[in-house]
Amino acid sequence: MKWKEKKSVKRDELARLFQKLSRDIAGGVIEYSGRSVALPEDMEVEVEYKEKHGKNKFEIELKWKKKARGTMSPSATLSEAPHPVVKVASIEELSPWKVIRFEYPSGGDEAVLISLPNGELRAYSLVCPHKGKYVTWNASSRKLYCSAHKAFFNPEDGEKIEGPGRERLTRIRLEVRGGEVFAVGIA
Ligand code: FES
Repeated sequence: MKWKEKKSVKRDELARLFQKLSRDIAGGVIEYSGRSVALPEDMEVEVEYKEKHGKNKFEIELKWKKKARGTMSPSATLSEAPHPVVKVASIEELSPWKVIRFEYPSGGDEAVLISLPNGELRAYSLVCPHKGKYVTWNASSRKLYCSAHKAFFNPEDGEKIEGPGRERLTRIRLEVRGGEVFAVGIA
C-alpha cells in the first residue's frame, strides 16, 4: 500500500498525526536534526505513506514561507515508522549478565537485551554504527564486539570503548509491564 497527499493544514491538525509518531508539535516547535525549528500556524505538508516488506513508513515534508522577508524557511522531512511494542522477555528469566537476542523494530532487525548486574536492563540494535556489520555479545569481555574492525562497545551505555568511529550503538527503549519486558521504541 502507498499513498501520497499534499495539502495545507493548521498546526493543530498536524499535531495529532505527529503525536502518533511520538512527537509533539502543539507548542509550535519541532526538534529536527538536533535543532529546534519554529513552526507557523499554517503550512503546506506532503505526507507519504509506504508499506514495504512489512514495514510501515511515513514521510512528512513541511514547507512554509517566512512572511517577514518572503524567503523560504527550512523545510523538514521526517521519516519515521511508528514504533511497535514487542515482548522481549519475562522478568523471571533474567539474571545478571543474561543476554537475549530479539528482533526490533521489524523481523530481521537484530537486537540484544542485556541484564546488567545492578538489575538494570539495556537493549541495543546489533548493527554496528561504523560500517553496518553485526555486533555480537562477547561473553569473555562482557562487551559488545564488532569483529569487522575490532570494536568494543560498553553494555551500560552503548558507547564505543575501542575501535574506529565514534558513534555509539543505537539504543532501544524498554518498558516493564506486568512482569514482562517490552521493546517500545528507538531511543
Ligand atoms: S563495522 Fe563495526 S567496527 Fe567497523
